[in-house]
Amino acid sequence: MAGVSLSRFLSAEQQAGRVDAQLRLLLESVARATVAIGAQVARGALAGVLGEAGSQNVQGEAQKKLDVIANDIFLQTSEWSGAVAAMASEEMETVHPVASACPHGDYLLLFDPLDGSSNIDVNVSVGTIFSVLKYAGNGQPQEADFLQPGRAQRAAGYAIYGPSTMLVLTVGHGVQGFTLARETGEFVLTHPDITVPPTTREFAINASNERFWEAPVQHYVRDLRAGKTGPRGEDFNMRWVASMVADVHRILSRGGVFLYPMDEKCRARGGKLRLLYEANPMSLLIEQAGGAASTGREPILDIQPQRLHQRIPVVLGSRDEVHTIVRYHEEAN
Ligand code: AHG
Ligand code: MN
Ligand code: MN
Repeated sequence: MAGVSLSRFLSAEQQAGRVDAQLRLLLESVARATVAIGAQVARGALAGVLGEAGSQNVQGEAQKKLDVIANDIFLQTSEWSGAVAAMASEEMETVHPVASACPHGDYLLLFDPLDGSSNIDVNVSVGTIFSVLKYAGNGQPQEADFLQPGRAQRAAGYAIYGPSTMLVLTVGHGVQGFTLARETGEFVLTHPDITVPPTTREFAINASNERFWEAPVQHYVRDLRAGKTGPRGEDFNMRWVASMVADVHRILSRGGVFLYPMDEKCRARGGKLRLLYEANPMSLLIEQAGGAASTGREPILDIQPQRLHQRIPVVLGSRDEVHTIVRYHEEAN
């Protein structure tokens, strides 16, 4: 199907019974939101969107102007889709119910509107991450309705605003990558059936936190850095963009492992990355592409969430290497 538009792809998925009409509408509106966010990101200083918003989100993090703008765009675009019952995001403390004037749908939409905020002002790739759950109840959805394990996701994906804008998504049948054709405003399927190579010699971790990591992660990274003469007998390369979207995109493109492990600085909060709108959607994409995703101790997609903004340690990427990291954790016990 390479070369077809996102709309045509979703239409074929609907015909094949893999998405229903509402999910198709929802994904079309998510795509529209990412085009609008991407346009703001691309205009940068010209649009006056760089810098601090002067506010904090629920996590106590300083919000950038683009965090707030991207959140508003996502809300506005999705609210009227007719496919959403409620939304939740990194930038909103509580669940956002769809206004009573809007048509209500069967899905719950979670998102990280702007991932990689520290890279906005330095013109490095940022992105948007989203996760779609089914709403089983009726009436106004509550926080508890969002607390579904990652395996229950009906769709997940991200947009990356890089040299080109891409939308990478799964509806539970493999992973598809679309590139935005700016002339037409349409996403075109350029990377069908993305797979992650099972082995790798590339890893991604913020090494400045080394002294705060747990022993098995310190041990693992030490062995990688020892290279050819160390226990792994091979040289490993390292990359760290500090935008999860960009790091995961590289792994989906050529393999690798990404770690944001537990460390002493983030232990009280449970980890650094958020389970529902960062770890879960990325883990589903990676598993759907043949990779693996774990906390180091258990598969991320099996975790029963306890809170909307819950955080979690993340290890994901090439399958064999993730399994190796899990082994380091087992052996430390
Ligand atoms: P966000 O910008 O949505 O808060 O997410 C930032 C995350 C993630 O994208 C990235 O991998 C990580 O934070 C970078 O953390 P460090 O700055 O600690 O390296
Ligand atoms: Mn993020
Ligand atoms: Mn964010």
